[in-house]
Amino acid sequence: MIEEKILSKAGDIIKNGGLVAIPTETVYGLGADMFNPKAVAKIFEAKSRPFFDPLITHIADIEMLYNLAIIDKDIIKKATDAFWPGPLTIIVKKRDIVPDIVSSGLDTMAVRMPKHKVALEIIKRSTGAVVAPSANPFGYLSPTTADHVREQLGDRIDMVVDGGLCEVGVESTVLDLTRERPIVLRPGGISIEELRDVLGEVEVFNRKVTSPTAPGQLESHYAPRTPLRIIESLNEVENSEKSAYLSFGEEESKLKFKCMENLSELGDLIEAASRLFYSLHKLDREDVEKIYVKKIPLEGIGIAIMDRLYKASEK
Ligand code: TXA
Ligand code: MG
Repeated sequence: MIEEKILSKAGDIIKNGGLVAIPTETVYGLGADMFNPKAVAKIFEAKSRPFFDPLITHIADIEMLYNLAIIDKDIIKKATDAFWPGPLTIIVKKRDIVPDIVSSGLDTMAVRMPKHKVALEIIKRSTGAVVAPSANPFGYLSPTTADHVREQLGDRIDMVVDGGLCEVGVESTVLDLTRERPIVLRPGGISIEELRDVLGEVEVFNRKVTSPTAPGQLESHYAPRTPLRIIESLNEVENSEKSAYLSFGEEESKLKFKCMENLSELGDLIEAASRLFYSLHKLDREDVEKIYVKKIPLEGIGIAIMDRLYKASEK
């Protein structure tokens, strides 16, 4: 565990309106005091994030959920009992004490209680409600190490707390509980199957039938600088010597790539998620023309992995 000195320094910076990058079990977040609109505005500036994209508020104590939001359905308690602390974000009706800049003017808000001890301890030492988007420039790959944050945003923020590599490796699942039926707006660390086991019927956002309410649903996002292409077979590869390859499972490639990473040689989807952004960051640093990525099975957390890859790929 990180020293008390560091935790309380991070808490103090947030309390005083600064920005601190904090480790969570999903990805590193760029944290600011939710109650301080000026501090929240700094996040949008540091990330070059458009103001129409609302933020997730991170809490460490369930009482805070009741202070911030109107909890008027049993299903909300069911979801938080089962999945908090953990990689589930819920969309609920907000109260007036939540500044508009947090919710981009919507009457709903996103809340999650992370599982990472360091995140929880920092939230407790600040004001108890910390907004934290992924700590990357808008549209770019999410950070899963403190170094990723330092490289991308280091000079724009007040402190980076190093909590090691993020265990889950993809962002939280965003579940909207304000509609008639629960609907997943962004697949993530908690799988659709896990949600259905506990909550029963759960819909999944589909842009053809539901209008997007939040830009996590934008088509292009999480992208490396190098063009990325998803392939089903190596026959689709051109110019392998000038390309990188991100594979999955056992792979005997006859092609020679400039560099390669494997998300999980054993074909384990959870391991693959935990390495996804780390591997993409690594390949994006190489001087290659293209990153080819092997298609991942669309089950469990594989759905969240493929969501990120589709959004990162060339259109
Ligand atoms: O795992 C995570 O969720 C990470 C870590 C740091 O906790 N955070 C994260 O934040 O991914 P961000 O800002 O990159 O993604 C927030 C997502 C966006 O897709 C946003 O549109 C959605 O939550 N969101 C926030 N408020 C919303 C609302 N009121 N209605 C619908 N979607 C909302
Ligand atoms: Mg993000």
